[in-house]
Amino acid sequence: MQHHTTTTTDANSPRKGTLLKSAILASAALLTLGVLSIGPLVSAIGDEAPAAPTPDALRSLYERPIAEWPAAHWRDGVAPEDRRELGLVPDVTHPEDNPHSFEKVELGRTLFWDARLSGSRGVACVSCHHPDLGWTDGKAQSQGHQLQRSSRNAPTILGVAHLSSLMHDGRSLSLEEQALLPLANEKEMHSDFDTVVESLRAIPEYRARFKEVFGDDEITLDRITKALACFQRTLNPGRSRFDSFLRGKHTALSDQEIRGLHLFRTKANCISCHSGPLMSDDKFHNIGLSFYGRKFEDLGRYHITKDPKDVGAFRTPTLRNITRTGPYMHNGLFDLPGVINLYNGGGARPRPREDQKNDPLFPTTSSLLEPLNLTDSEKQDILAFLESLEEPRLRVSPPPLPGIDPPRPNRSAREEDAAP
Ligand code: HEC
Ligand code: HEC
Repeated sequence: MQHHTTTTTDANSPRKGTLLKSAILASAALLTLGVLSIGPLVSAIGDEAPAAPTPDALRSLYERPIAEWPAAHWRDGVAPEDRRELGLVPDVTHPEDNPHSFEKVELGRTLFWDARLSGSRGVACVSCHHPDLGWTDGKAQSQGHQLQRSSRNAPTILGVAHLSSLMHDGRSLSLEEQALLPLANEKEMHSDFDTVVESLRAIPEYRARFKEVFGDDEITLDRITKALACFQRTLNPGRSRFDSFLRGKHTALSDQEIRGLHLFRTKANCISCHSGPLMSDDKFHNIGLSFYGRKFEDLGRYHITKDPKDVGAFRTPTLRNITRTGPYMHNGLFDLPGVINLYNGGGARPRPREDQKNDPLFPTTSSLLEPLNLTDSEKQDILAFLESLEEPRLRVSPPPLPGIDPPRPNRSAREEDAAP
């Protein structure tokens, strides 16, 4: 049996001890199961409780092609077309009206780092979506213009090319359209579109860069958002240990991580929503965190659809690179063990106060969530599997900014494009 080896950073080290301890506990638990499964007890249990596979048996099941893995447990409410298995993240297709070019990606990267797009000239996209923090900001809720706090947690932009809607509530339908929102948001970049365009037009090197990409040196909002979107589409996940395992390097996952993968797809039922290669069904669910009628109230998807059944629903986020993107949830109020405990209890199920009893908007937690009865070692197994989704850290050097930095050879230019 392999030992679970963590490749965590210092930030995670306080958990290492617990993980190690639980790995030992988990091994002990499995040994017991192993003994049980050859003993007479199991046959007495009958058909309803099949013996848990031994570590070796489970490993050999998961070392087969994905199509031959043990059947996932989908909750009844998951439509057949939504039952998408985990797997390698596909290559990105760039839209016809915004085709990929190397120069456009580099222009987009430069704009992404350039705080002159903001009203104060102090906030850039990268301020809240930083590569060292898994393309997030590491804060519970983002802080933007003059350190004003937004009400939401900055999601990662890794894998955004594959999403059919953006933002926690899905209010934006394309990356091109999305980029307009933080620019004009008064708590984020606090600018206005004319100022953004004017300030870039005043920089001759930017005009040259736009000419290189778009054929003439006209700088427009449309071109700015196209370049930003093109750059973001190149950030595709796919270099985690889980991906190596899927590509056939079976030593990439420890036994504990394989147990976690199995639980994720079966008993813990995570796959019912975190499905497909990106581990998101791209749909909206209420897992009970709307804080309806309370301080952190956020009605989520309901703000967009005005449909009472969407109160408190948020888009299922990707779990790719999850260990680097905390804290978690739309409000940033959770750490990973807290997330697991939340699901183990069947999600949050707030009960209406007396004055809320007949409130048609009182949110109902998704019926896809049920108490899971996970043991402590099973929780640790799931956490270990989530850790295997961590992408290797990139050394991303900030691009030189036109009119500020002297041009220099773009050593790291293709780092993010290197995703397989
Ligand atoms: C002050 C912090 C801040 C800045 C600056 C910022 N963002 Fe964001 N970003 C956020 C937050 C918070 C959200 C989630 C907002 C929501 O759901 O309401 C978000 C969401 C996104 C998303 C959607 C991701 C998803 O999974 O749905 C994309 C894409 C994005 N930002 C790109 C950008 C770009 C491009 C810029 C620069 C033009 C930018 N952001 C600037 C904080 C920021
Ligand atoms: C009913 C669908 C559903 C199921 C089942 C489900 N999730 Fe989620 N998950 C969501 C939604 C929706 C969110 C976002 C909620 C929010 O932002 O308030 C989320 C958020 C998360 C997050 C935080 C991600 C981030 O970037 O903030 C993690 C981690 C997570 N889920 C892991 C799991 C695990 C592990 C399981 C199984 C034990 C699981 N989920 C089961 C729908 C689900």
